[in-house]
Amino acid sequence: MAVSVKDVAQAAAVSVGTVSNVLNRPEKVAPDTVARVHEVIKRLGFVRNDAARQLRAGRSRSIGLIVLDSANPFFAEVARGAEERAAGEGLSVLLGNSDQNPTRESGYLDLFREQRVNGVLLTPTDLADPVLLHAGIPLVLVDGELVGGELSSVAVDDIEGGHLAVSHLLAIGRRRIAFVGGPLAIRQVADRLEGARRALAAVPDATLEVIEQGALTVLAGRDAGERIAHRPADERPDAVFCANDLLAVGVLQGTAILGEVRVPGDLAIIGYDDIDFAEATVVPLSSIRQPARDIGATAVELLLERLADPDAAPRRVRFRPELVIRASTAG
Ligand code: RIB
Repeated sequence: MAVSVKDVAQAAAVSVGTVSNVLNRPEKVAPDTVARVHEVIKRLGFVRNDAARQLRAGRSRSIGLIVLDSANPFFAEVARGAEERAAGEGLSVLLGNSDQNPTRESGYLDLFREQRVNGVLLTPTDLADPVLLHAGIPLVLVDGELVGGELSSVAVDDIEGGHLAVSHLLAIGRRRIAFVGGPLAIRQVADRLEGARRALAAVPDATLEVIEQGALTVLAGRDAGERIAHRPADERPDAVFCANDLLAVGVLQGTAILGEVRVPGDLAIIGYDDIDFAEATVVPLSSIRQPARDIGATAVELLLERLADPDAAPRRVRFRPELVIRASTAG
């Protein structure tokens, strides 16, 4: 049987209201009473029912964060940035993983409404989903933005990022370029490919092959890499731009399978995100860096602005991507 507030009050010889004040407004209670009540709480092992307090207060002391793939280190860094900024406001971050599944995303939005979180930071599975404008809870988009700007958002210019990546491959003399992406329905992937196409337009003798994988994972990258390695040498690309670093790690592994493809000699590889693993691979990976922690912290900032003034115009923050050159595209 759980210890109740009433048990604590009886043991401390005070009213239930005094126990509630000790927990929520200790400045209203005599110090010796506060000490006595806390001693009883510790002795009886009382745990406060935060859900009831949160409901009474109208909102919990938390915000929700729904990411596309919690196994991707990029989103772990986004979450870390969000947590650090939220902690400064006494808020906790509740994490949900949509796994790129709209049904799971919708389930987490329902859960966070029920939990009465203050608002939700969302990396959307579908930017065209009308529910984004009728979420029934303050929403900030992370790693994506609405064309009309109806919601506050924080993202990186992925078209510029794709342009940076392929311009670098062209600058080191590569001309047969492959783009290894996840589903092109994911806006980030489509924009990176668009940036690649725009870079290629400046070099007429260069070609771009698109290899669309079903996921943005190491396994999907390894599959693409093995298929490239099994081609006759003159049918292989001489460079690969991967839509994220997990794919690039997989391509690096897959192309090594036959021991014929040298990186970067035969095949230059560049990824996207600049996660910690990118520089730890056997051939350190070049990448396009996204300021993941800043993205997370900025998303919290935008949500706090929205909570402080619901009528304020939404604000869109767009970070610039950064080219990080390592051994996988050297020279
Ligand atoms: O979720 C897929 C990708 O989109 C991540 O790797 C990151 O690049 C995000 O922007």
